[in-house]
Amino acid sequence: MTFFEATCTAPVNIAVVKYWGKRDTTLILPTNSSLSVTLSQDQLHSKTTIRASADFEAQGGDRLWLNGIEESIQSNKRLVACLRETRAQRKAMEQADPALPKIHSWAVHICSENNFPTAAGLASSASGYACLVYTLAKLYQLPLNASDLSMVARQGSGSACRSLFGGFVAWEMGTRDDGLDSRAVQIAPETHWPDLQALICVVSDAKKGTSSTEGMQHTVKTSPLLQHRIKEVVPQRMKDMIAAIHAKDFPRFAELTMQDSNQFHAVCLDTYPPIFYMNDISRAIIRIITEYNRTGIKAAYTYDAGPNAVIYAPKENMPEIYALLNHYFPGAVFDDQLGLRNDPRAVAANPLPEGFDPKVSPVFAEGAVRRIMHTKADDGPRTLVGEQDSLLNAEGMPK
Ligand code: DP6
Repeated sequence: MTFFEATCTAPVNIAVVKYWGKRDTTLILPTNSSLSVTLSQDQLHSKTTIRASADFEAQGGDRLWLNGIEESIQSNKRLVACLRETRAQRKAMEQADPALPKIHSWAVHICSENNFPTAAGLASSASGYACLVYTLAKLYQLPLNASDLSMVARQGSGSACRSLFGGFVAWEMGTRDDGLDSRAVQIAPETHWPDLQALICVVSDAKKGTSSTEGMQHTVKTSPLLQHRIKEVVPQRMKDMIAAIHAKDFPRFAELTMQDSNQFHAVCLDTYPPIFYMNDISRAIIRIITEYNRTGIKAAYTYDAGPNAVIYAPKENMPEIYALLNHYFPGAVFDDQLGLRNDPRAVAANPLPEGFDPKVSPVFAEGAVRRIMHTKADDGPRTLVGEQDSLLNAEGMPK
């Protein structure tokens, strides 16, 4: 079998200035710019192998497996768009250089998986589409930089465009109708602020919420507050956030992050009928972090389109924050890959910092927060080169 293959991983990102609303739902062009932090792939990533082979056409054409289950490609318009775009780029290269093998017309087998359980309730579309597009670019050897690729990934899922970079990443909304100026740019690499860490709190939630894609268009159609956010708030907030990141000014970064999360959930409430993403546990975490910050800002919470909290804080505050969360939310499984529990402050007999008002929240029943993951700002997509890294076997089927 003659084939070409690439295997890559891509990270998740958590926005500190939220993307919410599209001005073009096909090209996925947003109504405001946004900014995120890329989190370490050591804890959370998508991994994708793509093989192109002249033999695949006779075996059913393009095929896709997600977390071990075969899915239809044709019914997924966003995936089709990413494939179409990268194949067109490859075709142009082949036309310019006749010596190149004509692999753009070969069918592909795509196999992708996340290293975190989908049941954890963590969004995987950002890392998934970033990984798909990055792997396609490697397979086709496209001479494109991460910002160019972000414009393709954006058409898979808006937030995916920011996962093409590590560190601190802005998605500039752009103004053109063709989307050629709506792309991700790196504000600062992960090495700029190695001290910044995150705790992801997976909150127990029985009901399935409104998807981001669906929810944000209801907001665009019905929320007057969103118009205020787009015009009056986000442009200045983007500038302030970039300045705070460049200055490594944690209190300012934290304040802007919390304000932006609050406003995002306010526009959800202003949507008619309203959308609720946070629950009682999410709100208790807000009260706990607010009390913790009463004497000086030491942590920032942020929430996406679901009840899970992400807490950003400098490394030195993490043991204290973990102890606090563990006190109010006993029984959470703790993914301690960075060795936080080795710090005596994380397991102190008195988990509340001095002066902390214990009455800000009740102590919840076991499992209200199901899992806590400790992670940090880190790098962008990685290419894996070992044969053992491939997700496909010799026949081009999932291993
Ligand atoms: C709340 O990128 O999932 O996480 O573009 O429709 O795929 P689509 O939406 P998606 O929306 C993410 C929204 C958010 C905020 C953010 O990540 O900026």
